[in-house]
Amino acid sequence: MEKYTLITGATGGLGKAFTNECLKRGDNLVLTGTKEAVLKSIVEDINTNYPQIKVLAKTCDLSSESDRKSFFDFLKENNAQINFLINNAGFIAEGEFLKHPDQEIMKIIRVNCEGTTDFTQKVIKARDENEDLHIITVSSMAGDYPMPYMAIYSATKAMLTTLMVALNYELKDKRVYITTVCPSGIPTTDAMKEAIKSQGAGGRMTMCTPEKVAMLSMKASKKHKVVYVPKVINKFIKGISKLCKETTLARIVGKRWKKSQAKRNFNTEGK
Ligand SMILES: NC(=O)c1ccc[n+]([C@@H]2O[C@H](COP(=O)([O-])OP(=O)(O)OC[C@H]3O[C@@H](n4cnc5c(N)ncnc54)[C@H](OP(=O)(O)O)[C@@H]3O)[C@@H](O)[C@H]2O)c1
Repeated sequence: MEKYTLITGATGGLGKAFTNECLKRGDNLVLTGTKEAVLKSIVEDINTNYPQIKVLAKTCDLSSESDRKSFFDFLKENNAQINFLINNAGFIAEGEFLKHPDQEIMKIIRVNCEGTTDFTQKVIKARDENEDLHIITVSSMAGDYPMPYMAIYSATKAMLTTLMVALNYELKDKRVYITTVCPSGIPTTDAMKEAIKSQGAGGRMTMCTPEKVAMLSMKASKKHKVVYVPKVINKFIKGISKLCKETTLARIVGKRWKKSQAKRNFNTEGK
């Protein structure tokens, strides 16, 4: 069986940065996302510029059980052994709880929690137990505190961080090393760029480029770090937030986020 690195959300901003990091290391790649045309163009690019690297790609809606099953059947058919999983895909959504469009809340939960958990278990079960398996899970600093006006997303990331840290402990003697990455703002999409800008100096100081997040996360994984927070200022904020009561954090974060959304004329329906 051939060894591969599996990257979810490879079609997005941070996913592309992770792909580039893995290409530099010479990893064979399995890429997934939901946008077939984007995946196809990434594969063409890799085949042209890195002919020595094997690359497989298949769309998979992480919220769909049948898509996930077909995806893992595809890995089997292609004799692909995953020795590095990068759980990067995420459904990012903000807005008032009562104003989320129908179905959106369940979709955020299914993609971020159900899909990522299922992928993680399937990859761990199918691993070669005589080899190391590294996993990076992209969570978020949004999971470190209650986040009014981005409550569902933040709660899904809190679940991911807790789950991954616990799994790392359960599996540390079984050659499975899980690094959970908790970035602050990353200017990947136009919406994220606007959200970061609307936070002024605070947004600028805490943000980190996708290239840097990917590069630092790979280094953290190599060192078997359990939780990794890019940037010193974010480590400091995370530390301070552990000392505060949840209600205090919700008040501070809620005020800040409401102000940011007002500056952008953000409303859930019109985003
Ligand atoms: N940007 C930030 O400020 C920030 C901060 C902290 C953490 N993060 C986390 O970083 C990760 C990457 O986000 P990004 O900033 O690169 O955003 P992005 O450019 O929007 O990328 C999101 C990726 O997730 C994939 N995805 C979304 N829904 C999916 C679904 N139903 N099934 C499968 N894949 C799905 C997308 O695939 P398609 O486009 O093909 O659907 C895309 O590749 C996410 O987990 C996010 O929560 C982001």
